[in-house]
Amino acid sequence: MKQALEIAPAQGTLGILLVGLGAVSTTTIAGVIAIRKGLAKPIGSLTQMGTIRLGKRTDGRSPKIDEFVPLARLDDVVFGGWDIFEEDCYAAACTAGVLERSLLDSIRPELEAIKPMPAVFDQRYVKRLSGPNVKKGKNKKALADQLIADIRNFKQKHHCSRLVMIWCGSTEVFMKEGPVHQSLAAFENGLELSDDSIPSSMIYAYAALKEGLPFANAAPNLTADIPAMLELAAQTKAPLAGNDMKTGQTLIKTIIAPGLKARLIGVRGWYSTNILGNRDGEVLDDPESFKTKEESKKSALEYIFQPHLYPDLYNDLSHVVRINYYPPRGDNKEGWDNIDIVGWLGYPMQLKINFLCRDSILAAPIVIDSALFLDLAKRAGMSGIQEWLSFYFKAPMHARDLYPEHDLFIQLMKLKNTLRYMQGEEMITHLGREYYD
Ligand SMILES: NC(=O)c1ccc[n+]([C@@H]2O[C@H](COP(=O)([O-])OP(=O)(O)OC[C@H]3O[C@@H](n4cnc5c(N)ncnc54)[C@H](O)[C@@H]3O)[C@@H](O)[C@H]2O)c1
Repeated sequence: MKQALEIAPAQGTLGILLVGLGAVSTTTIAGVIAIRKGLAKPIGSLTQMGTIRLGKRTDGRSPKIDEFVPLARLDDVVFGGWDIFEEDCYAAACTAGVLERSLLDSIRPELEAIKPMPAVFDQRYVKRLSGPNVKKGKNKKALADQLIADIRNFKQKHHCSRLVMIWCGSTEVFMKEGPVHQSLAAFENGLELSDDSIPSSMIYAYAALKEGLPFANAAPNLTADIPAMLELAAQTKAPLAGNDMKTGQTLIKTIIAPGLKARLIGVRGWYSTNILGNRDGEVLDDPESFKTKEESKKSALEYIFQPHLYPDLYNDLSHVVRINYYPPRGDNKEGWDNIDIVGWLGYPMQLKINFLCRDSILAAPIVIDSALFLDLAKRAGMSGIQEWLSFYFKAPMHARDLYPEHDLFIQLMKLKNTLRYMQGEEMITHLGREYYD
């Protein structure tokens, strides 16, 4: 056994603060309440259902992950959040239309008790939205201070010992890193001057990190992925993860692509299109928000296929991603992928995937896993970018001099090895020579 990390116990209540009480957040919250009551199972959640092999294959040790590492229990979690709409969590879940009304009615009082705090919001960054529940302040610094006050009040009111914040708000317009993002000093000056390069999501991330809270970004916005936030996270020892949860089509992409590459099957083109009718789809109908999503969705294939190492197989791959807002489908997205592949002697073949998925049903277990693992990281003294949580994200945060790891199977191995490392267990290499010696 190696030395285990010292991990503070998961004592007391964990507050999970969600920015944006839309489809993803309400499906997560209602799901956790229903699971706690024994009304449903936490399918899709590694922290709730996953196991981890320890030692040799012959040892027969595969505990559940939540028995192996000290995670907060769902019974000890309390939710809060912000939204630009005043609807409580029950009404918001009804609007989102993901979960059946009968399930929501069976937990109605718990959902109604969760009311959104007024949001920091500016329509310049999400063009298709406007709502009444919005804070006012003389500059962006004043808005950040109001969020910090919200965080502290929530902690006190709900007797939380720890908090985590996750941005589950809408996708903001595309933005590139600018001078104001380069250092904490420049960023704080930018807050005072209400610099245009600071969108609402960055004000939330700043408030969370300033308070030392772990922060994850479930959307593709730049948000916390800038040097200023990394500097702040290092100062306050806050762990970070993001960006953009890997759910529907990109999840399937990062399952299929590593398999094709493993067998050195070439790919000439990958055409992905979706129809989606929820509010997220409406926001993404704006070209500037779509651009943010497109950049995030397109990065995975390039990194998985490594065309610089396999030019004959993957050079000039034509990768097209489309999202079409189509209201009749609501949250039930339909995605089509056409993949033009190439085999032995250059003979062409095609692979077609038609995925009828439910976006928020795929997202909710990821939100809860990220929150619980980030809380674990914080208690284990691990701050800054948590690359082992890449497993959950379409555009994983990574150190500047590294390329991101997109292959779902490598990501899972990295995640589980990190848990083994935390607990002082041997890494699993899958070499296995000892079984034949
Ligand atoms: N559902 C998925 O599978 C999935 C996957 C990856 C990423 N995402 C991203 O997660 C985010 C949430 O998705 P959703 O389906 O719940 O969308 P949604 O539109 O149902 O919910 C987003 C909520 O955020 C609120 N909001 C926007 N800006 C805000 C602000 N500044 N402060 C507080 N609230 C704000 C909106 O009013 C809305 O209620 C989106 O950015 C989406 O792109 C979703």
